[in-house]
Order: sequence, then C-alpha cells, then structure tokens
Amino acid sequence: MKKILITAGPTRERIDGVRFISNFSTGVMGYELAKAAVKRGLEVTLISGPTALLPPEGARFVSVEAAREMENAVRRNFKACDCLFMAAAVSDFRPDKEARGKIRKKKALTLRLVENPDILKKITRDKDKRIVAGFALESGNVIKNAQKKLKKKNLDFIVANRLSKEKPPFGAGAADVVIIDRYGEKIRIKNAPKRKIAEGLLDKANSLWERGR
Ligand code: CTP
Repeated sequence: MKKILITAGPTRERIDGVRFISNFSTGVMGYELAKAAVKRGLEVTLISGPTALLPPEGARFVSVEAAREMENAVRRNFKACDCLFMAAAVSDFRPDKEARGKIRKKKALTLRLVENPDILKKITRDKDKRIVAGFALESGNVIKNAQKKLKKKNLDFIVANRLSKEKPPFGAGAADVVIIDRYGEKIRIKNAPKRKIAEGLLDKANSLWERGR
C-alpha cells in the first residue's frame, strides 16, 4: 500500500452569497490520518472541506467546498490510489438552488433541500483491489447500523462512533471507536486521541491490503 487518498472536514452547501448549511465536523480525524500516513512514508492526497486546520506537511492538498465539488475531486484522484479513507462529513442535503446575492430579511423563509450524491457508495463501484474505509456516526445500535452501512457502501472496513451528548465526537478530544471489517472482525479503540486512532486505521488498511483484502 503506497498511495493514500483521504477526505476530511465538513462540506458547505450554499444558500446564497453569504450563507450556507454545514455540520460540526472539524476535520481532525482526516488530518491526523494524513499526518500519520506521511510519517509512514506513504504518498498522501488530502481532499478537505473548509476547516481551521493547516494542511499537513508532505501531503498533496486539495481544497473543496461543497459535496459535489468533493465528489469530483475524489473521482479525479481515486484511480491512482491504493486506499481511500472517507473521513469527511459530507452534507447529505443541499439547497435546491443558490440564491443570487443575499436573501433579504423576511418573516419566514422556506428552504427546499435536495439530496447530495453519496460519494462513497458511488465510488466503490470502481473499487477493484483498493481498500476503502468509511466512517459512521451513529445513535441507537451503533454496531448493527455501521455493519449495514459497510455492506450498503461495499466497504472493506468502517469506523463506528457513537453520537453522545457527554462526549461529542467533534474536535481533538479522545474518542471511542470500533473498527468493523468486511469479515466481521471488530477492533475496539477506547478513549484514544485521534492520532492514535489514525495509527490503528492505517494498520487495519495495511493488513487488509497485504492479505489481498
Ligand atoms: N458519505 C459520502 N457521501 C455522502 C454521505 C456520506 O461519501 N453524501 C460517507 C461519509 O464520508 C462516511 C460514510 O459515508 O464515510 C457514512 O456517512 P453517514 O453520514 O454516517 O452515512 P449516510 O449514508 O449519510 O447515512 P445516514 O446519514 O442516513 O445515517
């Protein structure tokens, strides 16, 4: 495994010239993955939505804003990669059209949102022997829901994370994740900084790559 493609951060979907809808993703997980992969001597391309982080040294950096722009960037870079980590929090919806200029103040405003492309689900149709990893932020039955996503999106492994009020999954804090692979093997990483989780994810990708998935 030599060439790693990583997506990170949120996407922004424009409402008008000054407003957008987005989510609380900070990009830390994807950036930590990029840093750890560079340290291992891998060739890294990081496609990132808007974040407050500095592009990691040694990685090729592609800056994007909206989901459809991210999809194009992933498409352009997927062929050349051995492994994709889809750590971005892609906005599932976008306003059906971007208003020109600035929408003026009024008593009420109705926005119509339409579905964005599922980047991961579409890209895995051309996966061949590449390793593809997704992330799942879940409430309810975390393992079961993540396993469903793993199958639906044809992934090699998925990184499941519980959405909880006490421990928000956003930012640099420690996190608990479960890595579930396509063979049903589960690895739990508890209360670990994202730097450490990144190492675990690279190890997992590498071991699947070496056994030919
Ligand atoms: N993802 C993607 N394109 C989207 C939405 C999600 O590529 N439009 C990717 C994410 O980067 C992540 C994985 O799919 O790696 C799971 O994302 P998640 O939001 O949990 O899954 P959804 O398919 O959007 O399912 P739901 O929101 O209904 O739980």
